[in-house]
Amino acid sequence: MGLSVRVIDNFSVGRPENVPAEAELIQGDILDPAAIEKAVAGCDVVFHLAARVAIRSSFDFVVEDTATNFAGTASVCRATLRSGSARKIISTSSMAVYSDAATPDPLSETHPTEPVSPYGLSKLGAERLTHMLAAGTGVDSVVLRLFNTYGPGQTYSPYVGVVTIFVNKLRNGEAATVFGDGEQARDFVHVEDVVSAFVCAMEASVTGETCNIGTGRATTVNDVYKIVSSYMGVDRNPEHCPAVAGELRYSIADIAKARRILHYEPQHRFEASIGAVIDEIMLQSKAAK
Ligand SMILES: NC(=O)c1ccc[n+]([C@@H]2O[C@H](COP(=O)([O-])OP(=O)(O)OC[C@H]3O[C@@H](n4cnc5c(N)ncnc54)[C@H](O)[C@@H]3O)[C@@H](O)[C@H]2O)c1
Repeated sequence: MGLSVRVIDNFSVGRPENVPAEAELIQGDILDPAAIEKAVAGCDVVFHLAARVAIRSSFDFVVEDTATNFAGTASVCRATLRSGSARKIISTSSMAVYSDAATPDPLSETHPTEPVSPYGLSKLGAERLTHMLAAGTGVDSVVLRLFNTYGPGQTYSPYVGVVTIFVNKLRNGEAATVFGDGEQARDFVHVEDVVSAFVCAMEASVTGETCNIGTGRATTVNDVYKIVSSYMGVDRNPEHCPAVAGELRYSIADIAKARRILHYEPQHRFEASIGAVIDEIMLQSKAAK
């Protein structure tokens, strides 16, 4: 698109080698006023994705997660609004802001927001703060509520990202763990579709809007296990552990609003795209050895 891009990351999770060489890179913390001011200086559009994202551990790390996700968003918004150059801020939220649903039907943005984890609560606060601080300043605000994102380059953590967790376990000849009965359903959205949503949000003439970004299709954790294990040629049952606190039973996006106001249209289907992602995760873990 010919745009200049600047990235700020404290590399608590991310890795500098994943940032394209064409982008200017600042290693810094969004909570450090000098670093974030430097990062947003002269920018037209600020995409705010930095966060502590582990839902399960957000009970134990409630202070750290709230600081990064809520106060961190305040810091990014303040620097953006003071920059004098920005015309739009796009904040990243999560399906974790919603209350649990009784059925796997897609949830629209009007579904009650009653987070079941401190992570979800910090993201709900952050999205409201984004709109509140931007309102009336002449800087447009958009919040994207991402559903379960998967794709190449996904950071491996034993706590986040069911696809990478399954692939790494099965690759090491270990049993993968499924929490609860495995019939919890998720909306898996490919990272390329998520990137396209950010570009759509940048280009659309909208402000004060919050949109779900997913596919509208449900896949259960048992389905993910079956698809991943069959692609990897592994014939082994997963272990089942009790369901964990803070995780939703059903979390499927109704994407009608994103289609209508952002002209977002996901291109990937989980079953068709997951093979290439598994190949890439396997390659990455081989290279890391
Ligand atoms: N991956 C998903 O399925 C998913 C779903 C819903 C929402 N989200 C949201 O999308 C965004 C990106 O998530 P991700 O899955 O890529 O996670 P990630 O952990 O890979 O990316 C977050 C990045 O933020 C950086 N970071 C953390 N704290 C920082 C700080 N104080 N200052 C500067 N940088 C900091 C980390 O180093 C990391 O590179 C987050 O806002 C997350 O809440 C992700």
